[in-house]
Amino acid sequence: MKIPHAVNHQLAGKRVLLTGATGGIGRAVARRLATAGASLLLVARQPEALLALRQQLPGQHSCFSADLTSTEELQALAEFVNTTGGIDMLINNAGTSQFALTAEQNYPAQIALNLLAPMQLCQLLLPQLQQRTAATIVNIGSAFGSIGYPGFSGYCASKFGLRGFTEALKRELSSKALRVLYFAPRATQTSMNSAAVVAMNQQLGNVMDSPDEVAAQLLKQLQSGQSRWFVGWPEKLFVRLNAFLPELVDRAIKSKQAEIGKYAAGANQSVSVQHNHSNGAAKITVTRS
Ligand SMILES: NC(=O)c1ccc[n+]([C@@H]2O[C@H](COP(=O)([O-])OP(=O)(O)OC[C@H]3O[C@@H](n4cnc5c(N)ncnc54)[C@H](OP(=O)(O)O)[C@@H]3O)[C@@H](O)[C@H]2O)c1
Repeated sequence: MKIPHAVNHQLAGKRVLLTGATGGIGRAVARRLATAGASLLLVARQPEALLALRQQLPGQHSCFSADLTSTEELQALAEFVNTTGGIDMLINNAGTSQFALTAEQNYPAQIALNLLAPMQLCQLLLPQLQQRTAATIVNIGSAFGSIGYPGFSGYCASKFGLRGFTEALKRELSSKALRVLYFAPRATQTSMNSAAVVAMNQQLGNVMDSPDEVAAQLLKQLQSGQSRWFVGWPEKLFVRLNAFLPELVDRAIKSKQAEIGKYAAGANQSVSVQHNHSNGAAKITVTRS
């Protein structure tokens, strides 16, 4: 009888490409992966931030500076991966978000980085990842990839798209050797969130996780291999509710719409957000004027 060999998805000794490595969530994920023994290829635009991060991490890692919204730079990154021994895991984490009413939204910027870049990077790196005996793609989505929220129309569209892409890719490949995972944090204390978002979340009582809590959840998903992972209650519940009974979520959001709209339009708040660049977390102070 032929005994199927177990696929080893352990992190120790694996090479992981992490985009958005210098951001709030990226740094926390980098620290946890490096501590688990992975060797990282850290990617972001600013080379100084990449080098500084690499110095802080235990183990041997490399950096690649690229603007992921440029097709040429994506191709250069893929070329670098293919000529330096390949990777075992791709984490598409770089992202951007704009909180504004529809008239003010910059849709191309959000779609380019949050949706097109991960799709193209998967496409470019798939042939190499498929040669590995055990490989993983993780696309970092958001609770807003399942719940349309006022003031985030561009971001929601990009993350809904990313969730759809991830699901289709997972079903297309359907292989134990190459896992395709979707990881969805809820609001997190990083510089991606503008002062208005922070103030709105405080007012509405929306919890904002620390980047390290989010990274710990991602490591749990990697360990379990679960295809879809949503961080936090009640967001987890709202994601399911929105799929089955969207009218209920319409009503819940409608009751808060006036407040949300006020912040999205630039409410009269004075907010200070201080970012701790050594750990990626943000300290937030809100004062009403
Ligand atoms: N923070 C939240 O509330 C939250 C909630 C749910 C989901 N998420 C998702 O989690 C992921 C990480 O978010 P975060 O909060 O950690 O963001 P962040 O702190 O703003 O960090 C963004 C990272 O992406 C890099 N980046 C930005 N534009 C880039 C570009 N054009 N090319 C290459 N790299 C670029 C930045 O470095 P450079 O500027 O040097 O390029 C930085 O490393 C995103 O996908 C986001 O959508 C975040």
